[in-house]
Parts: sequence; C-alpha cells; structure tokens
Amino acid sequence: SEPLGVALVGCGTVGTGVAKLLLEKGDRLAQRAGRSLVLRKVVVRDPAKVRGADVPRELVTTDLAAVHDPAVHVVAELIGGTTTARKVVLDALAAGKHVVTANKALLAEHGPELFEAARKVERTICFEAAVAGGVPIIRALAESLAANQVTALQGILNGTSNFILTSMAEQGTSYAAALAEAQRLGYAEADPTLDVDGSDAAHKLAVLAQIAFGVTAKPHEIEKIGIDTIDAMDIRFADELGYTIKLLAEAWADNGRVALHVAPVLLRHTDMLAQVRGAFNAVQVVGDVVGETLYQGPGAGMMPTASSVVADLIDLAVGRAQRTFAAAKLWSGQSRGFVIEPS
Ligand code: NAP
Ligand code: HSE
Repeated sequence: SEPLGVALVGCGTVGTGVAKLLLEKGDRLAQRAGRSLVLRKVVVRDPAKVRGADVPRELVTTDLAAVHDPAVHVVAELIGGTTTARKVVLDALAAGKHVVTANKALLAEHGPELFEAARKVERTICFEAAVAGGVPIIRALAESLAANQVTALQGILNGTSNFILTSMAEQGTSYAAALAEAQRLGYAEADPTLDVDGSDAAHKLAVLAQIAFGVTAKPHEIEKIGIDTIDAMDIRFADELGYTIKLLAEAWADNGRVALHVAPVLLRHTDMLAQVRGAFNAVQVVGDVVGETLYQGPGAGMMPTASSVVADLIDLAVGRAQRTFAAAKLWSGQSRGFVIEPS
C-alpha cells in the first residue's frame, strides 16, 4: 500500500532521533506498520545544524510551507514553544495532514483549540512523546486502563529535574553543573527554566489529567513549586534522615473534584519513586478496577523520545491512532464528571 509520508518540523534532539529511526530502521518500521514510513521533508531554521542523522540534503528546507507537499501525510511538530508550534499544527491540520507532537506546553496551553481544529477536518493529533519521553503512559491511560476510573496519579515527570536531584545527591555535583550536563545530554527544554520551576511537569500533568479525568487544567490551576528552590544542604539533611527529595506531579480525585499540583517532596529511601534515578520518569496510576500500577523508563533524551514519536507514526500508518482519537474526545469540554479543585 501507499507509503506514509512524514515531514519533520524541527530536527534538534528529538527530530534527529526520529530521522535516524526512519532512515536506519525502515524495514522494521514497514513490517510493523504494513507500509513504508518515508521521510519526505525536514524543516528547520538553520540547515547547517542538521547533523547526527544522515538526512539527504534535498529533504532539508527552511520553508514551513514545504509540509503542504501532497506526498506528506503526517507532520511531526518537534520545534517546541507555543507560538510557531501552534501555527505549524493548525496549518498542517488545515492542509489535511495528521499531526504528531512531543510538545506538552503546546497541548497544555492550546489543547482545546488544536483538538477542535483536528476534529473539524477529521485529522488526528498524536502525542505519546509529550509525557514521560519513552514511557508509554498516554497509551496506558487512554487504552490499557480504559475500564478504570483513575483515582490518583503520582509521577516523576521531568527528567531534567530528576537528573539534577540525582547528580546532586549521589555525586555531590553542584546544581549549576548538573543542569549544564542535562542540557548537554539533550534532556532540558530550550528554556530550562521550564524544567526547574515545575512548569514542564505541570504541563505534563495537565495532559495526563485531560485523559484520566477529562478536565482541562489551565496553567494557573496547577499549583507548582520547582527544584530551583532546593539546595545541596536540603538534599544532605533529607538523606541523613532517610529521605530522598523528588519532584512529584500529583493528581488526586475525590467526590468529583481533582486536585493537581507539582512540588518537591520527601520520599522514604525505600519508596519505589525514590529509586527512580537520572533522567528516568515514573508514573504510579491507581485505577478503581486494577488497583495500583507503575510505569517507568527514560523520560527524556533523543532515542527514548523518538521511540514514542515513531510509535505514533506507526499507529497512524495502520489506522489505529485515528480510531482511538475519534473515541477519546480529548479537550472537547467533555469532563468525565470531574472539576478541578481550586488551589
Ligand atoms: P531542540 O533540540 O531545541 O530542537 C528544536 C528544533 O526545532 C531545531 O531543529 C530548531 O532548528 C527547530 N526550530 C525551532 N524553531 C523553529 C522554527 N520557527 N522553524 C523551524 N524550525 C524551528 O528541541 P528538542 O529537545 O528536540 O525538543 C523538541 C520538542 O520535543 C519540544 O516540544 C520538547 O518539549 C519536546 N520533548 C523533548 C524531549 C527531550 O528529551 N529533548 C523529550 C520529550 C519531548 P534550529 O536548530 O535550526 O534552530
Ligand atoms: N525537558 C523535558 C524533561 C524533556 O527534562 O523531562 C522531556 O519531556
């Protein structure tokens, strides 16, 4: 059958990983999808910076309109930020393309508008990579736990913060040096303030709360404190008392109300979440049918994130994503009977 044509908008950490997978694992992906996944365009600001994947030069362009090519069926928005990214997604949908995005800030801020636009043109937005990198938490919540009402969610959702806290606790690295290393390894956002002030974890919590409870949380409705309030002394004293400091994003549902917050918390060394190290993420989900479940793995970085983006491309190629999307009615204002508890 006809190959699925893919355009990448953005080819930094995540885009490079996706390009590598499409170019180097084509046979495997074609087998899984039942058709080829073909890289058609790579849109960036500076073509000289496209390195790390052997992207054929003729595919690279600075022209955002290149994604309108009829051979492109899916646009992967991998630039980050909310202004150009919003335009890229709306433009792609208007041109009849499906969208894959890793951009949780975009979903948290413009979810209702983007999903309404997608529904109007019967196109799909996939976003497994937007929360917890390579951990398939979106599918777990939206599909595998579909028979449950989620009653609580607790997670380490920011790889950069967890990497910094782990490096400070285990190697005595300074906050500044640990953050610089997280940036070098490609974990941090272009503006790392979003990582360390709790915003990125709050964006991801908003996305999870949409799926689990049907609530659309605006940024100010999520109480947040980041790890930029923690110093080396806090980590040392906590350790001496048998505790590890972790940045947790939490959602608690009770009597039709959902409380959402992000903050550094003290966990006993023996707690499962206390043992999540480096840029790993973990999410504990409690469902009324299944009980307590735990999902963990690499929460940031090139190939783990590309793993989730390409899973979305495969789902689109086989037509699965379109069916799930139509059923889920995300950001449609249809709460599952919950409202957000004011903070
Ligand atoms: P990045 O390394 O900064 O790469 C961004 C890419 O977008 C670069 O190729 C950049 O091009 C391009 N770009 C930026 N603005 C553009 C514009 N106006 N027009 C065309 N191209 C533009 O970012 P990243 O780490 O890959 O993150 C991308 C997205 O994935 C973000 O939404 C992020 O939150 C999300 N994400 C990242 C990770 C991770 O571990 N890094 C994990 C999960 C999700 P130039 O280089 O030419 O400027
Ligand atoms: N900056 C993000 C993090 C990337 O550190 O978790 C993954 O979303």
